[in-house]
Amino acid sequence: MPSIRLLSKTKDLKSFYCIILFGTLFIYLINIQEPRSIIECPTFEEMVSRKVDMEDKCLVNYVKSRRFYHPSVLPYNITTRIDDANLPVIPHDSFQSYLDAQDDPWIAALIAVETFVPKRGQRRFLECGALDGVTFSTTLHLEKFLNWTGVLIEADDRFFSDLEHVHRKAYGVHACASTSSHPSIARFKPSPIFTGVTINGTNFTNVNPGDGYLLNKLNEQMQNDFDFIEVPCIPIYTALLAANMTRIDLFVLDIEGTELNVLKTLPFEKADIAIFMIEIYGKSEEEIRTIHKFLQSKGYTFYDSLHGGMHPGDDIFIKSEYYRSEDDLVKLDKMTNREIFKIITGKRDENIDTKDLELFISMPT
Ligand SMILES: *[C@@H]1O[C@H](CO)[C@@H](O)[C@H](O)[C@H]1NC(C)=O
Ligand SMILES: *[C@@H]1O[C@H](CO)[C@@H](O)[C@H](O)[C@H]1NC(C)=O
Ligand SMILES: *[C@@H]1O[C@H](CO)[C@@H](O)[C@H](O)[C@H]1NC(C)=O
Ligand SMILES: *[C@@H]1O[C@H](CO)[C@@H](O)[C@H](O)[C@H]1NC(C)=O
Ligand SMILES: *[C@@H]1O[C@H](CO)[C@@H](O)[C@H](O)[C@H]1NC(C)=O
Repeated sequence: MPSIRLLSKTKDLKSFYCIILFGTLFIYLINIQEPRSIIECPTFEEMVSRKVDMEDKCLVNYVKSRRFYHPSVLPYNITTRIDDANLPVIPHDSFQSYLDAQDDPWIAALIAVETFVPKRGQRRFLECGALDGVTFSTTLHLEKFLNWTGVLIEADDRFFSDLEHVHRKAYGVHACASTSSHPSIARFKPSPIFTGVTINGTNFTNVNPGDGYLLNKLNEQMQNDFDFIEVPCIPIYTALLAANMTRIDLFVLDIEGTELNVLKTLPFEKADIAIFMIEIYGKSEEEIRTIHKFLQSKGYTFYDSLHGGMHPGDDIFIKSEYYRSEDDLVKLDKMTNREIFKIITGKRDENIDTKDLELFISMPT
């Protein structure tokens, strides 16, 4: 009898120790979990020097917590600080918007998306070089009138803070696009649009906002006249992961010069991008050929070369699984004006304004 009691006592004692042991372990783990996730994430500068991968969780979290704008639920506040009489006022109506932009290449890109790319949920754009989300915007019409969403990337502080006031219904990422597959820091000249500099007798206030970055083409002595700003750069794919949008219908790339190196960072097997619209204006024949060859090697077909509106020159490429050859253009030829009108305005048959449609059909193409 006593031996059994002793045994059960030992058992009790064992359970007791077990509870203490696991309890302590549990409390230890709980305590360590919280601070760890914070402590273990290096600073951005450390991530740059460690060359962390573009899928690194800490890097994605950094974008989400420090460089992010969430799609707004507030009404649009479409204003622009870029004060230039030549800039269009964004109209309230989709057809008006089209009339203002009718020679803009994004319209051809939109028609290509709707003709060739199967609809897999809400359409999505990625606009790299988004400025304030209004000026020269390639994607505002898509978002405002056609219910697209997506990701807007802009490096310049002032453009980005303006963008935040516009209440776009897309993610904004305040960073520059890295030209390598890890984060980096770039030295930028702020866009002169806000600073109003005079260089060699030229007033650089009223220029294309993107020219801020183009000014690196000036000679070194002149470059010294500028204050540089340091901008964190993240790979495009990191921005897509942060927004949880690795499938993109239209990728607009307009970053004044480093397009090819940015494209090279994309993991094409993971990021599903249907159509590219890439600014080629100002590039040499050789650079353009290299971009074409690169995208072809990644399974894209050159679709069209366009210029007009706010875009002096863009090339459009379509993932070859959607567009195999020029034979597919037959699809476009067969499309009626009414169908094109519906794509552009997002109108259903019952909502079509007959006058608008007639005007559209009578317009020269
Ligand atoms: C816009 O797209 C979202 C997501 O697909 C959908 O829930 C919503 O109903 C759409 N809105 C309109 C006006 O089509
Ligand atoms: C609209 O944008 C302007 C300019 O960025 C800003 O000053 C103003 O506060 C914004 N209004 C709202 C309601 O967000
Ligand atoms: C500055 O302007 C003068 C006169 O227009 C011109 O001759 C000179 O080449 C310009 N310098 C640079 C560096 O552009
Ligand atoms: C440059 O142009 C802007 C806008 O027209 C003007 O406000 C500014 O005074 C000009 N700067 C110089 C130095 O002329
Ligand atoms: C990311 O998107 C996928 C599919 O679009 C969805 O199933 C998933 O829940 C999303 N993840 C987060 C964290 O929102």
